[in-house]
Amino acid sequence: MLCLGIETSCDETAVALCDDGRPVLEKLASQAGLHAVYGGVVPELASREHLRRMGPLLQALWAESGRTMADVDAVAVARGPGLLGSLLVGLAAAKGLCLGAGKPLIGVDHLHAHLMAATLGHAVAYPALGLLVSGGHTQIVSLASPLEMTVLGRTIDDAAGEAFDKAAKSLNLPYPGGVYIDVLGRGIAPDRSLFPRPYLDNEHLDFSFSGLKTAVATYVAANPGLRVAAMPESGGPIDPESWPMDLRVVCASINFAIADTLRVKLERALTTASRRPASLLAAGGVAANGPIRAMLAELAVRRRLPLFLPEPALCADNATMVAATGCLLGRAGLTHDLTLAPIPRGRKVPWDYQAGAPLGRGSVDSRSLPQ
Ligand code: KG4
Ligand code: ZN
Repeated sequence: MLCLGIETSCDETAVALCDDGRPVLEKLASQAGLHAVYGGVVPELASREHLRRMGPLLQALWAESGRTMADVDAVAVARGPGLLGSLLVGLAAAKGLCLGAGKPLIGVDHLHAHLMAATLGHAVAYPALGLLVSGGHTQIVSLASPLEMTVLGRTIDDAAGEAFDKAAKSLNLPYPGGVYIDVLGRGIAPDRSLFPRPYLDNEHLDFSFSGLKTAVATYVAANPGLRVAAMPESGGPIDPESWPMDLRVVCASINFAIADTLRVKLERALTTASRRPASLLAAGGVAANGPIRAMLAELAVRRRLPLFLPEPALCADNATMVAATGCLLGRAGLTHDLTLAPIPRGRKVPWDYQAGAPLGRGSVDSRSLPQ
């Protein structure tokens, strides 16, 4: 089954093709540079940029893949949660393509797609425990199968990515700042008592990162010399050796506080699970973080669990994960009609698929046949 995936939830415009879950090609335009100076995504600018980029990205996808809409079995689109104006651009493009070519439409939960990115190319055993850490979400989920996801814990305020980005903003580092905190802290021993590991003194699996965000802002306000004098250009190379050591210790300590908070809740989820998970998955932009990846690897070995982590490029928002999830849903015969609505941030994406015949069955890609 060949699925076209479309992603416009936040500030990445992306289109991709997956063939039965195998990535074929992705074309992605990041808007990070556009929003860098604002310290966060400006929704109005984001939707306009999605609209400007979508057409040329699709043209490039068809030209470089040699495929056309005629080859596609379904169009999958991230329907939320995300920025409403941004999602509308992706949904309108997907519906137009479906209408024009007479293809089925599949709305995909952006968070489900992130987790499915971790499973790409792997035979994952279920039930799996999943950690989703992105700019807008921090969740621990249980997956009984690739299509059955239950949220066990979530952030009650800011996401881990928000804590990284606001910490970076306090230090006058550009948005999105997670990668700066990650790279500048590399190879440096953290001061483990510098920042709180928030919201651990309870029994549940929820998170709260707003206190950590404030703790970093308060520390930087008391130590203004830490603030970077001239904000570096977003997306440029980061040479950690050229940065002051006190700033690097702060970054290492932020990495530690967030990674260790995630570890404690994951340990709790593994200990309290009604059925022992057979695998551990992690995904979302923050799953690209070095100390978080190291923490997950150590936890998986200690708990004797196979760990599935996307490569860093597939941790961040992308359309390959949407197309791959579309393949799973389409194969299960789950689609939407053209009334599909976007779901804004903060609202749960409903499981409102229409069940029908499996898509793509019997379709043969002529290029895979012997010549
Ligand atoms: O999944 P994503 O691309 O978009 C959302 O769905 O939100 O995640 C973006 C978040 C941003 O907060 C960004 O700072 C963070 O992921 N991020 C990182 C790293 N790379 C991206 N955080 C920590 N370390 C990184 N290496
Ligand atoms: Zn995302």
